[in-house]
Amino acid sequence: MSCTQHLHDLRVAPPVVLPSLLLCDFGNLEREVRQLEAAGVRGLHLDVMDGHFVPNMTYGLTMVSTLRGITDLPLDVHLMISNPGEYLKKYVDAGADLLTIHAEAVDDPRPLLEEIRSLGAGAGLAINPPTSVASIEAALPLCDLVLAMSVMPGFGGQAFDDVALEKLRDLRTKISAETLLEVDGGVNTSTIAACGLAGAQLLVVGSAIFREPNYAQAINQLTQLASSPNSEPNP
Ligand code: DX5
Ligand code: ZN
Repeated sequence: MSCTQHLHDLRVAPPVVLPSLLLCDFGNLEREVRQLEAAGVRGLHLDVMDGHFVPNMTYGLTMVSTLRGITDLPLDVHLMISNPGEYLKKYVDAGADLLTIHAEAVDDPRPLLEEIRSLGAGAGLAINPPTSVASIEAALPLCDLVLAMSVMPGFGGQAFDDVALEKLRDLRTKISAETLLEVDGGVNTSTIAACGLAGAQLLVVGSAIFREPNYAQAINQLTQLASSPNSEPNP
């Protein structure tokens, strides 16, 4: 399936809960992916960290190409790295369908966003909690995805920062209907409804899935809550 088809799949029928592969069982990666596929997930969020832009290291190109080889799901690759411009083609060639860079990692994201699109992938731009929407406004027309981080990047299991909600609402009024709006960090049964209400279409979830015994049950409940934001989470 082509990248554009994968991008299309993520656009239809929001909201989409995207499991973030950071806290999963990497010793049984293929089994984890099969469980997520069986649970009906519509994509995977891959957290690439370089130990420089963020104070943690995870995985890189090999992991992306390995996952490309074991699943047809759209791969939403979150580059938490310095100098992302040096790696764009490598990550698209490895299988990234969506490739997100951080505004804080570059002087001007626009040329990189254009390059990601020219490589045939969806161009994503992420902002951390302290970074304003105003600072990326000029780049928004070049984005296929905008990611409002609700934690400082680097680790799973952190507490949700409400600052992301106002940014999601603001971004929704500033981006095109085709641009995907994503939130990432501390999204769980207590916070996901507000994210859905604020307009997030892609909801990245790590610990609220991988710390649960039954991934499908967790994903279904999260999707429910994101879709009907007024419902209360089950105790
Ligand atoms: C943090 C990552 C997130 C994180 C989400 O730097 O970008 O994707 O893994 O994990 P939770 O949902 O546990 O905050
Ligand atoms: Zn992420």
